[in-house]
Amino acid sequence: MEADAPVDTLDAIHQRRSIKRYTDAPVSRDQIESLLEAAVQAPNHRMTGPWRFYVLGAEARAAFGTVLGARKAKRVDDPGAARAVVEKVTAMHRALPAMIVVATTVHENPEIREEDFASAWMAVQNLSLAAHAMGLGSHIKTGAVMDDPAARAAFGVAEDERVVAMIEVGVPEAIPDAKNRIPARDFTTWVD
Ligand SMILES: Cc1cc2nc3c(=O)[nH]c(=O)nc-3n(C[C@H](O)[C@H](O)[C@H](O)COP(=O)(O)O)c2cc1C
Repeated sequence: MEADAPVDTLDAIHQRRSIKRYTDAPVSRDQIESLLEAAVQAPNHRMTGPWRFYVLGAEARAAFGTVLGARKAKRVDDPGAARAVVEKVTAMHRALPAMIVVATTVHENPEIREEDFASAWMAVQNLSLAAHAMGLGSHIKTGAVMDDPAARAAFGVAEDERVVAMIEVGVPEAIPDAKNRIPARDFTTWVD
């Protein structure tokens, strides 16, 4: 796709894939800023601006990879193999073209807290669709590791924020086939 080719919104929704492997092409600061500007266009009840973005450099990505790798290595009995897991996951994260952590503020009012969390996820979706529109690929990641104090320290996330998602970004090396989706009509009730 040409860098400046316009992408129809519906096309972007239908063509976006979670990208597993990226080329070595860097993602520029300008591109990341464009992604984040798209993210903050998300609907946001009360305009609370709940999202916080942490753009990780190579060292922060590697530090997170070491934390994630150590968690995976707990399931490996052989100490040498466990060390290899940590090293592999660390190297994989260091080599990522870009990684953005999305966190949200945690409001004391539970209704606002839920709305803010929802808005933060809409920002994540905007970001991943914008990436596609810009010829980039992305992969949203989550998991219990997000609450690991060592992962939070690697991200530099503030103590009173909740980590929502980790998004890897880069130029896709390959575009996977679409995953089968159950048609919406199977989940839909038309209520008179
Ligand atoms: C809330 C959320 C959490 C996700 N967490 C992970 C994850 O931890 N690891 C992963 O490989 N993919 C993760 N994904 C990506 C999904 O696995 C992916 O969207 C799904 O397989 C459909 O593939 P597609 O995005 O290419 O259509 C996550 C997606 C969402 C929306």
